[in-house]
Amino acid sequence: MSALFTPIRLRDLEVRNRVWVSPMCQYSAHHGVPDDWHLVHLGSFARGGAGLVFTEATAVVPEGRISPEDTGIWNDEQQAAWTRIAAFVRDRGATPGMQLAHAGRKASTRAPWLGRGPVPDDAGGWRPVAPSALAFPGLRDDPRALEHDEVAALPDAFAAATRRAVEAGFEAVEVHAAHGYLLHTFLSPLSNRREDEYGGSFEGRTRLLLDVVRAVRGALGEARPVAVRLSATEWTDGGWTVEDSVKLAPLLTEAGADLVDCSSGGNVADATIPVGPGYQVELARRVRADGGIRTGAVGMITEPEQAEQIVADGSADVVLLARALLRNPHWAFAAAHELGVPVGGGVDWPDQYLRAVPS
Ligand SMILES: Cc1cc2nc3c(=O)[nH]c(=O)nc-3n(C[C@H](O)[C@H](O)[C@H](O)COP(=O)(O)O)c2cc1C
Repeated sequence: MSALFTPIRLRDLEVRNRVWVSPMCQYSAHHGVPDDWHLVHLGSFARGGAGLVFTEATAVVPEGRISPEDTGIWNDEQQAAWTRIAAFVRDRGATPGMQLAHAGRKASTRAPWLGRGPVPDDAGGWRPVAPSALAFPGLRDDPRALEHDEVAALPDAFAAATRRAVEAGFEAVEVHAAHGYLLHTFLSPLSNRREDEYGGSFEGRTRLLLDVVRAVRGALGEARPVAVRLSATEWTDGGWTVEDSVKLAPLLTEAGADLVDCSSGGNVADATIPVGPGYQVELARRVRADGGIRTGAVGMITEPEQAEQIVADGSADVVLLARALLRNPHWAFAAAHELGVPVGGGVDWPDQYLRAVPS
């Protein structure tokens, strides 16, 4: 029996295995509308046997995109385009999930292959918003602190996006509160210097995220799961810590979240991060053991035995893979074979490919 290829039940949803596709921006949409690139990109992971396929960070409002080419879900055209993609993923037996995001002070940034620098207004960029007027080094230097009323309106934007995601056929939602984007910057005392109810104490800094999770839960109904991606530590003195993540976990559960996807970093430009195989797994283990919530482990998980071990020893409930899946969208097939999982045992080869099953 493989732990990795054992289905997992979250609320009314059963996901066929625990190899999940980590969200990956493609910087390839026009006006926020995903196209054939996104269909083939996400569809290949579903065809390749993954359990749950998360979309890239998909913006809930136009100014919440990282790059002008990010996908969105604030209008009918975007929703219709996502419907086709979600249907393909579902037809392949995988679960379509959408990561909902607001880029905050990291908005209006060029794609990595264009240098990641700021996009000026006259090249299609815009002035980013943030909890406080503090820029992230190397990105737009003019973020504007959100007014109190604007912060209070954000949960509604996430709720509206959630309703559209459900109508488009997505069966799970992940709230992106990691990597220095808007919701993360509210959590961290390094980027949140507000003096109103959304800043200051732990309670103040976590208020917006908890309001967003409650709003997403309300829009999603009770049957489908909500995940929250956290940067579970900022690896920086004076920043958000794994103890903070553990303390937040039961509050997230109470607000309606079912799983914390434990990433790290992204809010401090010069943090020293101990990057290496499985370097964030310990964060998932801590949040799961001490925070009492299911977790996902992510980050340099590349080997089938490594992934199997993470789930089998209870460090996390699922693993999320990004670059290993870009290298091989059929990673789950190879992993199942290596772990001795028979065809049909949590990984479904398409009929069209059965002649290629290794013997
Ligand atoms: C091309 C690319 C795009 C990414 N875009 C996102 C994103 O949209 N949202 C997110 O939360 N993380 C994003 N990430 C981070 C991944 O989801 C993942 O956490 C990270 O790459 C570590 O996992 P890995 O070692 O398996 O690649 C991206 C990573 C890559 C490589």
